[in-house]
Amino acid sequence: MEVTKKIVGLREWLAQNRGASLGLVPTMGFLHQGHLALVKAAKAQNERVAVSIFVNPLQFNSPEDFENYPINIEEDLRLLAEAGVDLVFTPPPEEIYPKGFDAQLRIGAITKPLEGSARPGHFDGVTTVVAKFFNLFTPDRAYFGEKDAQQLLVIKKMAQDMNYGVQVIGCPTVREPGGLALSSRNSRLKESQKEEALLIWQALQLGKQKIAEGLSNSAQLIELMSEVVLSGASAAVDYISINDTQTLEPVEEITGEVLISLAVFLGKVRLIDNITVPPKA
Ligand code: PAJ
Repeated sequence: MEVTKKIVGLREWLAQNRGASLGLVPTMGFLHQGHLALVKAAKAQNERVAVSIFVNPLQFNSPEDFENYPINIEEDLRLLAEAGVDLVFTPPPEEIYPKGFDAQLRIGAITKPLEGSARPGHFDGVTTVVAKFFNLFTPDRAYFGEKDAQQLLVIKKMAQDMNYGVQVIGCPTVREPGGLALSSRNSRLKESQKEEALLIWQALQLGKQKIAEGLSNSAQLIELMSEVVLSGASAAVDYISINDTQTLEPVEEITGEVLISLAVFLGKVRLIDNITVPPKA
């Protein structure tokens, strides 16, 4: 496995591997089985697999969140070598945003609700860095988790609207046995908060069950789900939302497939999760 911090190193590796199909897995590191599931999917479909590890300052709307983002590069490299990755790109911030960097790629309506509204500027940071990675790697396929459902839709839209010749592939959310979605941020939870975090999954499951039973009013559903989440001592709801799975427009009366998504604070740690729910049979 080759590891490079430099764009020139990346270009050299790409030149040596020209002709081989390439799968890219962009990450911010502190890797877990969710990231490794993306690597596995990439391995299955491409002759070469590259992973980027870059904690992208542009996409953090809170400096405190950026500073507290967990890092463990040695362990990440060990996991990626074990997973059979070919190239790891670990640039320092100045390699991606040199002095004077002054560009931005922004996607429209689909970035506005949910995470876009809760974290202003977040998706501009995500699309700008992912655009740079698409330009640098020119991968055949790029892999993103359904855990970040809106991000996946935004990147698909970006690839389509900007004619990136990359196939954007979504992979299912990997969860702990109790249902908690794996996240680098889980490492910041206290033991008691880990228990409370299970309420997120329980709330999503309740939402799914109520829709199956015929409840179609989103406001009522959100109310029931909030009660579940708020039974956690340190829990606060940022949002719970029911949206169209393609346009992300809010849904008031549920008649078709919907995305139920939520963002919850456990103390200072903000977790997001979602499920896609089919309409009542
Ligand atoms: P990061 O949070 O490190 O996630 C990297 C990729 O792993 C994303 O596509 C995310 O959706 C996926 N992922 C995270 N947890 C997952 C889980 N439990 N199951 C399945 N996939 C999971 O998302 C980012 O980084 C950044 O925004 C990035 C795209 C790298 C741009 O900076």
